[in-house]
Amino acid sequence: MLNEKQMRTTPTKRSEQIPVRKPQWTFSELVGQKPRSDFGRMMFGAMSLVFPEGERFFIRSVKHFASQIHDEGLTQDVKNFIGQEAQHGKLHETFNKAVLGHEYDIESFLKWYKSTMFDFVETQATKILGPKLALSITAAAEHFTATWAAHGLSSGYLEEHITNQTLLDFMQWHAVEEIEHKHVAFDVLQEVDDSYPLRVAGMLFCATLLPFVITVAFLSLIRQAKNLDIFAFFRDAMSEGKNGGIMSSFLPAIVEYMKPGFHPSDHDDYAMARAVAERIEQRMEKVA
Ligand SMILES: [Fe+2]
Ligand SMILES: [Fe+2]
Repeated sequence: MLNEKQMRTTPTKRSEQIPVRKPQWTFSELVGQKPRSDFGRMMFGAMSLVFPEGERFFIRSVKHFASQIHDEGLTQDVKNFIGQEAQHGKLHETFNKAVLGHEYDIESFLKWYKSTMFDFVETQATKILGPKLALSITAAAEHFTATWAAHGLSSGYLEEHITNQTLLDFMQWHAVEEIEHKHVAFDVLQEVDDSYPLRVAGMLFCATLLPFVITVAFLSLIRQAKNLDIFAFFRDAMSEGKNGGIMSSFLPAIVEYMKPGFHPSDHDDYAMARAVAERIEQRMEKVA
């Protein structure tokens, strides 16, 4: 029987480098500012609330197998993956506390999220099913973040929806790095256990849990909203669905991942990510 590597029809091309950038954004100019779209703010806010603890889970699940990797290049990629995800968590936490925390009680959700999804579900699932499942869930989650990142950068969606330059840089920076390191968790999983059922199991868990926690985070924000313009809110929600936003790419991403022999680098969007990164880095240099 063919293994996953033998089933691949396209050669794998990885990102040439995974630089760990350390932006110093404080988001102070966004504190108390009314967003252009309440729906957009809450959708992005919900994801931003989910990211830091989720990214710490990604780091844990990959780190667990770091000593079993024999490929030197992949060992270095793992270090850089950890560095990038740690920065993402740090910056999203800064944004969450400064901007979301100014408007909403975010602590109740964060407390529930950590104690339920990680202290309980992760611990029990790892005890019963083993640590490979967590790695497989991470590989699947990284496919979603890379898919959303490619959508956001290539469709002009982010520029169209975000007028504040720092917020745009913040989102594009995260998107760029999700593309740069999109192969890492996947390749670690392949090195540790090149089993198609394990990869599919990770996707099934992830495709259930990720929308669930984002929905709970979204509802935790919406129930606190004051003076919400319901018509504008639904209009923005509908146009988000129509314009190829993250929701519309969710199911195609699952279908693509299920294809035997799939590899994240089947999408060669590295040049696009590099071009966006150069523009952000120039602005980061000016600030530093
Ligand atoms: Fe990330
Ligand atoms: Fe990532």
